[in-house]
Amino acid sequence: MHLTRRAARVTFNAAINAVFSAAIALVVTASALAAQLPQSEYADHRAALATAIKDGIIFGAGGRNPVTDFGPFYQIQGFQYLTNYKEPDAAFVMLVQGGRATSWLFTTASDPRRAFYYGRRPDSAALHRAIGLPARPIATLVGVLDSLVALQLPLYHVADFEDADFQNADSLTRGRTIVRALVARHPGLEVRDAHPFVDRIRAKKSPAELALIKKAAQISTEGHRAAMSAPEARFEYELQAAVEGAFLKGGAARTSYGSIVGAGMNGTQLHYMKNRAAIARGDLVVIDAGAEYEGYAADVTRTIPANGKFSPEQRQLYQIVRDAQAAAERNSKLGQSSVAQLDSSERVRLKGLAKLGLIEAEEATFDPPWNVDCAKQPRQCQQGMLWMIHGISHGIGLAVHDPAQFYEGDRTFKAGDAFTIEPGLYISTRSLDALPDTPKNRAFMAKVKAAVARYEGAGVRIEDSYIMTEQGLERVSLAPREIAEIEALMAKRPRVQP
Ligand code: GLY
Ligand code: MN
Ligand code: MN
Repeated sequence: MHLTRRAARVTFNAAINAVFSAAIALVVTASALAAQLPQSEYADHRAALATAIKDGIIFGAGGRNPVTDFGPFYQIQGFQYLTNYKEPDAAFVMLVQGGRATSWLFTTASDPRRAFYYGRRPDSAALHRAIGLPARPIATLVGVLDSLVALQLPLYHVADFEDADFQNADSLTRGRTIVRALVARHPGLEVRDAHPFVDRIRAKKSPAELALIKKAAQISTEGHRAAMSAPEARFEYELQAAVEGAFLKGGAARTSYGSIVGAGMNGTQLHYMKNRAAIARGDLVVIDAGAEYEGYAADVTRTIPANGKFSPEQRQLYQIVRDAQAAAERNSKLGQSSVAQLDSSERVRLKGLAKLGLIEAEEATFDPPWNVDCAKQPRQCQQGMLWMIHGISHGIGLAVHDPAQFYEGDRTFKAGDAFTIEPGLYISTRSLDALPDTPKNRAFMAKVKAAVARYEGAGVRIEDSYIMTEQGLERVSLAPREIAEIEALMAKRPRVQP
């Protein structure tokens, strides 16, 4: 707006004026690109889904009005992806015949009194203009579904779980209740899961989506820099405050998952989220925190020494993890198999662990404390797995664990992928104590016990967010991660408050 008015006042000759206007248009386009997804992309998502299923009725309920506290509303990801409708208590229906689609949005009007508290919702005409979907009152939803079901097409359900990782735990959703009732009324109705289709479309990100992920990663970077720059923290939550404060300052809507700030032993628990404990000066602190921007998630971890200087043991472990991440980055190449990404990072860590005496040898095996058939999954029975535990990568997007990335299908990296690379090592006697009492494990424990005591309570994870474009792999979270860089930034921290 400001730029446009300025442009109107420019009185240079026509040629200069034209160039100036074009430059403004470019600036506006670029900032619009980072600010939100163009409306047309949501129509593209629906069209791609219609093409994929060819014939059927697609139904999805949106998120419910929050019922736990006075928290803000965030739309369910699959629903957001198909509609761009950001208000609660809505539903989406699409009839697809021969790949051609007709869509409706069913909305809940704001109660006039509640509107004074929570704001007004757009009316159907405004909605049609804004998101290109005809809107109807939610009270008509069941009648419409009943009449569409009479067409004898399968019903594809975009289930309304909050997060794919918890979809089975989140079984009492409104959408599932509606579908159950629909099946009860129409016993012949065939219900299919729409998520595999939506997820495959979601997996490939558009340039505008990649720009949003990049922005989320840039904000996350500022958060991690703030943690490294803050006065020495006495409690985990002080670092959480530094990180999340910078996220909000940077324009993040919220964190893209519960921030993990684990000092010492807490850093060896992968998803520790209490963040209440005191930090000892010699601790390593794992900070796994990412910002969400316009619905898109970044996922970033840095591990820092509480006192600003890595001890020799911490330095050894950290460098192994950092080298493992570098190996995985070298093996994340456009058009190539992703198998080498994991393999290379594990090889580096196994070699490092063997050198430090934390495993008997690179290929040495044990009887793991998890249920696995070692003949079928030999990797899960390597001693090193006790210290590595988790995978190397997952998709990022609307969800922090975005579904269906390069690890599905032909397992090659493609332009439009967005993912993390996040090797870790987590050393604690507690993990040895969790081993089943078998002769093999007793021998393993006897060999490594002293080394484990030496590295006791050291958790190291280094995690960055990446996008894959036609130009190749791009790391988009650029917080300091080399030992010297981290120590240099932490050396500049203000003195400890009394
Ligand atoms: N922040 C969760 C994860 O790294 O997967
Ligand atoms: Mn992650
Ligand atoms: Mn993470």
